[in-house]
Amino acid sequence: GSYQTQVFAAGGSPFPFTPKGLEEAARRDMPREHFDYIAGGAGRERTVAANEAAFGRWGLTYRVLRDGAPADPSRTVLGTPMSMPVMLAPAGVAELAHPEAEAAAARAAERVGAVQVLSAVTSTPLEDVAEAAPNGQRWFQFAWPDDEKLARSLIERAEAAGYTAIVVMGDCHVAGWRTRELSSGFFPFQHAHGLGNYVSDRRFWELAGFGSVPDGLTPEMVAAAAETWNRVFTKPALQPEDLALLRSWTSLPIVVKGVCRPDEATRLCAEGVDGLIVSNHGGRQLDAGVAALDCLPPVAAAVGGRVPVLFDSGVRTGTDALIALALGADAVMIGRPWLYGLAVGGQAGVEHVLRSLREEFTGALALTGHRTCASLSEADVRAVPPTE
Ligand code: FNR
Repeated sequence: GSYQTQVFAAGGSPFPFTPKGLEEAARRDMPREHFDYIAGGAGRERTVAANEAAFGRWGLTYRVLRDGAPADPSRTVLGTPMSMPVMLAPAGVAELAHPEAEAAAARAAERVGAVQVLSAVTSTPLEDVAEAAPNGQRWFQFAWPDDEKLARSLIERAEAAGYTAIVVMGDCHVAGWRTRELSSGFFPFQHAHGLGNYVSDRRFWELAGFGSVPDGLTPEMVAAAAETWNRVFTKPALQPEDLALLRSWTSLPIVVKGVCRPDEATRLCAEGVDGLIVSNHGGRQLDAGVAALDCLPPVAAAVGGRVPVLFDSGVRTGTDALIALALGADAVMIGRPWLYGLAVGGQAGVEHVLRSLREEFTGALALTGHRTCASLSEADVRAVPPTE
């Protein structure tokens, strides 16, 4: 049965249905510093605000008397099937939201048929996340380490564990100016939170000055791990040649995340990438940035259908997802919403967020007169005066 039917039969839900309600519930359920780490962004957080506000400048138009129902929200992107074009964006240190972290999110995504893009910075190693949800669909987000052997090891491990695409993070080669963390002094990595993929890697411990992967972590090892990770986490300047190197290591599709300019999209297509993600990292990196949604139509036009274009930064509802698809995205990802779901209810909370999104999206697809995502186009949206 539908989620709506289920919720009504249960006499309502313990979980909120509005983005604001979900955020407020997460704020209540989390230590202040954890919530601020997740909710916050760079500088004055103008980019964060712009990302969400941009959706308020688009309205959906719709047709009547069409055979739109039931609509089918499923699609396949780069060979990966998904029950809806909404994926879990990579988000590091999810254990700040809930101790079961990415494993709980993996199980929720598996149950709903959503794709999980696993962050490089997880508390649970990527192999264990895959084992937690063996029938799930998953991609791996790759933070290119400043050590070629470690880079290659992470890619080979991801491919061996069943991840079906590599998402190269392109917008995080320096730390964002994160004003909330600067005020509180909270830095999750000093306790080796989120370093599961690294502390399970032989090459990582070589770099840390140890011969092999230790069985347990002494306080000295935790300190060595945090120090080493800070040193090698990302290669300062990724070059197009690096993509060629990556191509030589794996046969998986390569997707670059963080593209906002049409000229770069054109260049990356020429370099032979298999997909792009229009994203500004949820406003966590550069303040005073352009809303990610405003970057989508020009990038989609530059790509011209050569490769799939994905989108994130500010998607909160099924109708937001529909607007992004109408403006040229093949699929979208959500970041903070799934972390908030995780915070309020672990696996059940993430499932709630995903089921709500899928059902609202599917209904909106039918209401706008579509049977599938494929026929969505700019004709479905109209620029409107801002709503707030
Ligand atoms: C992120 N994001 C992110 N991206 C990435 O490529 N690797 C990562 O490890 C992380 N870590 C991370 C942690 C937290 C707490 C957040 C909120 C986000 C960015 C993420 O993938 C995505 O681009 C944004 O979250 C999308 O914006 P919304 O949906 O949060 O507005």
